[in-house]
Amino acid sequence: MAAQLVFTQTLLSELQAQLAALMPSSVFLLCDANTRQHAAPLAAALEAAVLEVPAGEEHKSIETAYRLWKELLAAGADRQAVLVNVGGGMITDLGGFVAGNYKRGIRCIHVPSSLLGQVDAAVGGKTGINVQGVKNAVGLFYEPEAVLFDTALLHTLPERELVSGKAEMFKHGILADPALFDALQALEKAEIPALDLLQRAVEIKCNIVAIDPSEQAERKLLNFGHTLGHAFESYFMYTEQPLLHGEAVFMGMLAETRLAMSLGLLPAATGELIEKALLPYQVEVHWPPFEALMPWLLQDKKNRGAKISFSLPIALGDAIFDKQLAPDQLLALAPQIYPSA
Ligand SMILES: NC(=O)c1ccc[n+]([C@@H]2O[C@H](COP(=O)([O-])OP(=O)(O)OC[C@H]3O[C@@H](n4cnc5c(N)ncnc54)[C@H](O)[C@@H]3O)[C@@H](O)[C@H]2O)c1
Repeated sequence: MAAQLVFTQTLLSELQAQLAALMPSSVFLLCDANTRQHAAPLAAALEAAVLEVPAGEEHKSIETAYRLWKELLAAGADRQAVLVNVGGGMITDLGGFVAGNYKRGIRCIHVPSSLLGQVDAAVGGKTGINVQGVKNAVGLFYEPEAVLFDTALLHTLPERELVSGKAEMFKHGILADPALFDALQALEKAEIPALDLLQRAVEIKCNIVAIDPSEQAERKLLNFGHTLGHAFESYFMYTEQPLLHGEAVFMGMLAETRLAMSLGLLPAATGELIEKALLPYQVEVHWPPFEALMPWLLQDKKNRGAKISFSLPIALGDAIFDKQLAPDQLLALAPQIYPSA
C-alpha cells in the first residue's frame, strides 16, 4: 500500500495524529547526530524513545542495523511498535530497512529532513544498506505508513546539502512540469523552496512510480541526469573533491541536455533554456576527460548489452527513456556535450 503523503507546517500535531491512528504499543524515533535536534523535541512531546546513530553514509550498514535491532529488542519493541525515521536519505533508507525486517516488519513513518530526502529518498518505498562500499547492495521495497514533509526542518540543513537537493526538483520540472521548472529558476540558489513547490516535485515522482513501480518503463525517466551523473559521482569519489549526489546530477543533467540537443531530440532553444537554469548550480570542478567516465558508464545497471542507456528531455516537460548509445557513438559526441572534451 502506498504511503500517505502529508505536507504540513505543524509537524508535531500531524505526527501525533498519525500515531494515534496507528495505535502503537511503543514509538521509537530514529535520527542521526545532526537530526537529533529535530527528533529529540518530537520524542519528548510524544514520550517516545530516541535511537541515535552517527551521521554519514558509512553508517548505512548492516552493523548499524544490527545495533538498532538489538536496541529495539532490549527495549521490548513488539510487532505493534512504530519507528519514526527523522533524517535525510541515510536515515530513511536505514530506518525503512530496520523496520521492514524487525519481527518480519513493523510499521514506520518517515520524516525526511534533507531536501534530497524529501523530494526523493523518502518517497517510493526503496530501503537499503551499503555492503563493502556497494551502495544499496541489500534492501527491500518497504512502504512507510506515512511520509510527513515540513520544509521548516530544512533551515538547519547545511547550504551545500540544500543546493544539491534541488537537483532532483529541477529534474522533475524538466521531465514533467514546465511551471515547476520556471518557479525553481526564479528562486535564489540557496533559497528553501516553498511547501507547494516541494509537493509538486514529490507528486511528479509519485505519479511516475505509481505507473511503473518496478522500473520496467516510465520510472526510467527519473534517471535523467543520472547516467552521466552517477559516473561523475563515482569518478570524484576517488579524488580530494568528492561530490554530493545532487552536485553530480546537476553536471549529469547539463551534459545529458546537451546530448539530447546534439542527437536532434531536443530543440536548441529549449536546450539553451534548460542549460541557463542549470549553469548556476554547476560546482567548480575540472570536468574529467570523457574517457575516464567510461568504466562507470559501461557498468551502469540500466544498460542493455554493450550500449549505454539514457533518459533524455525532448521538450520542457517531456522526455524519453531507453535511448541506447554505443560507447563509440557517445565518445564521438563528447565534444558537443562536454565542455572539456
Ligand atoms: N530510497 C531511495 O529511493 C533513495 C533515493 C535517493 C537517495 N537515497 C539515499 O539517500 C541518501 C542520501 O540522502 P541525503 O543527502 O539526505 O543524505 P544524509 O541523510 O546523509 O544527509 C546529509 C547530511 O545532512 C544532515 N542532515 C539531514 N537533515 C538535516 C537537517 N534538517 N539539519 C541538519 N543536518 C541535516 C545529515 O546528518 C547528513 O550529515 C543516500 O544513502 C542515498 O542512497 C535513497
